[in-house]
Amino acid sequence: MKRIMFSLLFCLFFVHSGFSQPSLSLDPAKSAWFRDARFGIFVHWGLYSMLEGSYNGHTLPDTTLPEGRSWYAEWVQMRLEVPAEEYRALARSFNPTDFDADAWIREVKNAGARYFVITSKHHDGFALWDSDVSDFDVMNTPFKRDILAELVAACKKHGVKYGFYYSHWQDWEHPQGALPYWKPKRPDKDFEKYWREKSLPQVKELLVKFDPDLLWFDTWDEVSHITDERRDELIALVRSVSPKCLINGRISYLNPGENIDFLEMHDNQYPASILSKPWQTPATMVRSWGWHAQDFNWKSIPQMTEYLVSNASKGGNYLLNIGPKPDGNFPVPAIRRLREIGAWLYANGEAVYGTSPVQITPEEGVIFTQKKTDDGARLYITLTAPKESVELPVEYGEVTGCAVLESGRPLEVKKSPGGIRIPLPDALFNDCSLQVICLRMKNTL
Ligand code: GLC
Repeated sequence: MKRIMFSLLFCLFFVHSGFSQPSLSLDPAKSAWFRDARFGIFVHWGLYSMLEGSYNGHTLPDTTLPEGRSWYAEWVQMRLEVPAEEYRALARSFNPTDFDADAWIREVKNAGARYFVITSKHHDGFALWDSDVSDFDVMNTPFKRDILAELVAACKKHGVKYGFYYSHWQDWEHPQGALPYWKPKRPDKDFEKYWREKSLPQVKELLVKFDPDLLWFDTWDEVSHITDERRDELIALVRSVSPKCLINGRISYLNPGENIDFLEMHDNQYPASILSKPWQTPATMVRSWGWHAQDFNWKSIPQMTEYLVSNASKGGNYLLNIGPKPDGNFPVPAIRRLREIGAWLYANGEAVYGTSPVQITPEEGVIFTQKKTDDGARLYITLTAPKESVELPVEYGEVTGCAVLESGRPLEVKKSPGGIRIPLPDALFNDCSLQVICLRMKNTL
């Protein structure tokens, strides 16, 4: 209960006081690509994917087990109580023969995403790359291929930025890594061993071997082991090896400090107001992050597109997750969603990439983004529901033109008491995807 209250308070803090987040000493040029990108793809993949959310007759969520109530299939080891040796033995049959890094990154690219983040090591401690630090890695499986190396090559080939999720705090394989809150807490001096033996050396290894564009660390609203000193030590390590690598706020969720590059929201959390620092929402397509064969809770494409545009309108990014199957394939419903979001962005991406927020609260069913252009500015009005017209507090004399973004169909702009009114044709809402109106203006708002 305490945890829930704490997390509620924290969410309220972030959601309602957008401008009072910790100030970050950012180099705007360094994170400019991240701000402009707006859309990234996340992948959770590892040994847990092989269990598909079930173990020993139990399927997540399972309330008959004390901690079985979550959908998160990447937590299966802890939540469905898989004995450590049995979990470790999964490595002996990890062999995703259909894995094709190029095909994955082509999907990412076609989805219109500009960056790719994969779990290099999740809480289970298993490394998807050839690690010199730990032999609990992909090279000690029948597959014996460095998955990260192949993905990095594909990202470079397709011009997609890439980063790694690295569980720097929880590690259920190392005898001194952090454990879930319901397990006995490790003495801090034991954790220190894990920190020096595995966590820091593997982060360094990832930086040196793969030169990532970002690192995605993971803590949440629990305070243990990740002191400000350890947080700063890890940041210093990243900075000393890579001047370009961005660091997310979940390196220490409750206290990210001054020296991170972007804020990371809680899972599927969407702030209600504009945040002035770069930020992103890690989001699921279903309920689980890792592949869960019984999780059929697929979100709709308009809903996900709305999250993407709505985050952009508040200065943030959308990092949409896929949980690939144990054979190395993306699930079919995920592929369809990626392709349809990609098709939508093909037509409307201008309203998303490189846009900035607008300091006007839109009416219900409307999202604003904007951009400066050589000939003035563009205000993008994304409609999430059918409407007869939209009203805007914009001076009539500021408008230089108006059209539906996808088709170029011109729209009439009328002067109204509050500014302007744009009547909308019925045919605009013949399909269920979000429609975007592009208003050409002399200046940004
Ligand atoms: C949480 C979960 C984890 C997941 C992550 C994604 O921290 O522990 O399983 O990787 O959120 O945002």
